[in-house]
Amino acid sequence: MAPTLPDTPCYLNGEYLPVSEAKVSALDRGFIFGDGIYDVAPVYGGRLFRFDEHMARLDRGLAKIRIPNPHTREQWLERCRRLVATLMAQKGTPDQVVYIQVTRGPAPRDHVMPESIVPTVFMMTNPMKPPTAEQRHHGVACVTARDFRWERGDIKSTSLLGNVLARQVSADHGALETIMFRDGFLTEASGSNVWVVHEGALLGPPKSEHVLEGIRVDLLRELCEDCGIAYNLRPIPEADVRSADEVLITSATKEVLPVTKIDGEAVGHGALRGKPGPVYGRLYEAYQRAKQTMSI
Ligand code: PDD
Repeated sequence: MAPTLPDTPCYLNGEYLPVSEAKVSALDRGFIFGDGIYDVAPVYGGRLFRFDEHMARLDRGLAKIRIPNPHTREQWLERCRRLVATLMAQKGTPDQVVYIQVTRGPAPRDHVMPESIVPTVFMMTNPMKPPTAEQRHHGVACVTARDFRWERGDIKSTSLLGNVLARQVSADHGALETIMFRDGFLTEASGSNVWVVHEGALLGPPKSEHVLEGIRVDLLRELCEDCGIAYNLRPIPEADVRSADEVLITSATKEVLPVTKIDGEAVGHGALRGKPGPVYGRLYEAYQRAKQTMSI
């Protein structure tokens, strides 16, 4: 049976309307080429979490693919808030996920970037589906794959076929994420950043063109500082992931989650083998506190 489509509030090129009524040109370069940038920002208690960081990344992404940012920060904020308020009034859901997409716009099909083209701006908001208590208390299973995506994982592009194929590898195994390695080193997962804990320190891969600069990458540095946890970004060989004391994944919608099984093998050592560890526990608590102080 075909999936039921949500009918949440959206914004399209200056108009607010239910998403079921939103229509774009079949010649939109977002549709034809996946030629666009997107972002996903969480909302807690009706307020946008780390909004300025999400806006800065959107701005950098648009610059990387040479689309002028069509709105100022204030305009983005105003539009996001209006969508959030509309959904809150309709469904009473204070925790939401705002999706923003800017494509290069409609044009005759030609790979070359056309001049004087007007970008398409699409935004919507949906109720947040936070991780379940089961996922938080018992952790989640992941599988691994070679990172077969393109070499610009830093660009939050709407061309997500590589990520879709990667995610399906885990879905086919009943797992939540696919952790990927490029040339034997950890990059990220299909829709999350990946972290390992060794000797009490939180380690993530270095910022590079192969990894999305997740908003939680800098957030976790701040939370580690607050909690007195050592934090280091450095190349992580595949063996260090498999032998880690803890493995975590982060994203706008997953927040921070413990990975307790990789390719069917329990993560960790001793009594904590296959169980969420103490670094996860402290970062989870710190994340919940941050929601209160870092939302506008
Ligand atoms: N995905 N890496 C990839 C490939 C991602 O798609 C995401 C997020 C992340 C985490 O970034 P952040 O902390 O900014 O959410 C890392 C979003 C949520 C998505 O595509 O829905």
